[in-house]
Amino acid sequence: MYIKDLRLHEGQTVTLKGWVANKRESKGLVFIIMRDGSGLCQCVTDATQVTDQVFENARSLTLESSVELTGTVVKDEKQIGGYEVRVTALTPLQVAKDYPIAKKEHGVDFLMDHRHLWLRSQRQWAIMRIRNRIIYSIHQFFQQEGFVQMDAPIFTGNACEGTTNLFETEYYGEPAYLSQSGQLYGEAMAMAMGKIYTFGPTFRAEKSKTRRHLSEFWMIEPEMAFFDIFDNMDLIERFLRKVVSDVLSECPTELEAIGRDTAVLQQIVKPFPRLTYDEAVKIIKGEQDVNGKNAITSLEEELKTVTARIAEIHKEISEREERMNTPGMKKGEIGFNQAKIDKLKQELDDLEEQQRNIPQWLNSARGFVYGNDFGGSDETVLTRLFDVPIMVYNWPHEVKAFYLKRDPNDSRFARGVDTLAPEGYGEIVGGGERETNEQLLVEKIKEHELPLEAFEWYLDLRRYGSVPHAGFGLGLERLVTWICKLPHVRESIPFPRMYGRLLP
Ligand code: 4AD
Ligand code: MG
Repeated sequence: MYIKDLRLHEGQTVTLKGWVANKRESKGLVFIIMRDGSGLCQCVTDATQVTDQVFENARSLTLESSVELTGTVVKDEKQIGGYEVRVTALTPLQVAKDYPIAKKEHGVDFLMDHRHLWLRSQRQWAIMRIRNRIIYSIHQFFQQEGFVQMDAPIFTGNACEGTTNLFETEYYGEPAYLSQSGQLYGEAMAMAMGKIYTFGPTFRAEKSKTRRHLSEFWMIEPEMAFFDIFDNMDLIERFLRKVVSDVLSECPTELEAIGRDTAVLQQIVKPFPRLTYDEAVKIIKGEQDVNGKNAITSLEEELKTVTARIAEIHKEISEREERMNTPGMKKGEIGFNQAKIDKLKQELDDLEEQQRNIPQWLNSARGFVYGNDFGGSDETVLTRLFDVPIMVYNWPHEVKAFYLKRDPNDSRFARGVDTLAPEGYGEIVGGGERETNEQLLVEKIKEHELPLEAFEWYLDLRRYGSVPHAGFGLGLERLVTWICKLPHVRESIPFPRMYGRLLP
């Protein structure tokens, strides 16, 4: 019997197995918030209704103890999940001692060190369930569209996305790399199947700490024969719309648990704006507005608002602190003021981070040099102006991967397309149409100083029945991070691997 099914058993006696998420006692009553992975519910043990042994068992429980209990299901709108269980029997399975994650605020490093336990908290539970739903929807989408799922190798003999972030390893005495992308193998398989997708782990040595980068992440890479860059964009759009819509319809409880304001996600039904690189650069530099909003001036305004609010909060905190020092103030009132102050301090943390970030974003936007790839700040500045993902295409070929097709109408550009999530999140998808011309590909491989021998097999795809084709790669964690509006990608994967962390 699972907590999520309590609604089907109103008035009946059920047995639940799970863990203690919270416990409090008040005269002759023990209230437990129990969790079993499917949901949460309050279980009440009343001393007047159970044996002394059962009541003592309930009292002995501590935070995160495991327990099996039996009781009657009562509808109660006020309780979490809408149902309460009135306990008749209760057996502790294991009584936990000093669970390290307490109710109080912990720092992120502490929580990351306890990731194996942190995953039990309601917020992490909700994020992981949303991740699970996203994965399910991704498979559903591609399978329904007639794509064949393929597994690309993890050990690879050649780079795909440049050589700067390769994880080198050893393969029977020879150097090998952990896969940076399954794309090149996907292209081979697309020539056998028509439409394929990979879904696998990807490794990149990102030797810096950013809110967007992991060293190990999961990538979904569809590859389609006879698709050009525009077919590719249509597919990206339909695909993301389906996944976000599914999360909205299937995960309302989880979205509520993490406090995600879903208004923006609901915009997913609108068409995704498609901008050329040139247009996107103008927007970043404030030379072109988006719906009457200017990237530069709106940031300047926001900085003013943030600064004013910070001053206001400082003032309110010191006023409250002064009041708390008034002699004779009641305990309840002190507690009330302290709670207010704690809340204000939390808001202050967020605002101060914005106060530090905005000038950096402004600097990088004002100083953006045409021809460069976008950095994290540029993506933030650009996507804060939108409420749906945007697609930026036709990139200067020098800043993009070797395999992208040169624009037949203007050889300065490559037919790459990045999809950037709104609300400041930035790139979640990178893709494009592939170069079909063997000679141009060979030139690019040399230009990127890649070893030609390692790409002979790849060039075969252009020698034997070469066709136009395109594809893209979606970073699963980037998508989860945006959908859940997380401050950092590390919370989007069960056990993140990133610079400076290998445990737990
Ligand atoms: O833009 P990228 O490098 O593109 C490729 O790898 C292509 N071969 C994909 C293709 O066309 N088949 O990476 C694709 C996506 C990015 O848009 C981003 O979402 C994610 O992978 N990504 C990362 N996610 C987390 N941490 C990192 N270090 C990431 N690097 C890329
Ligand atoms: Mg990219």
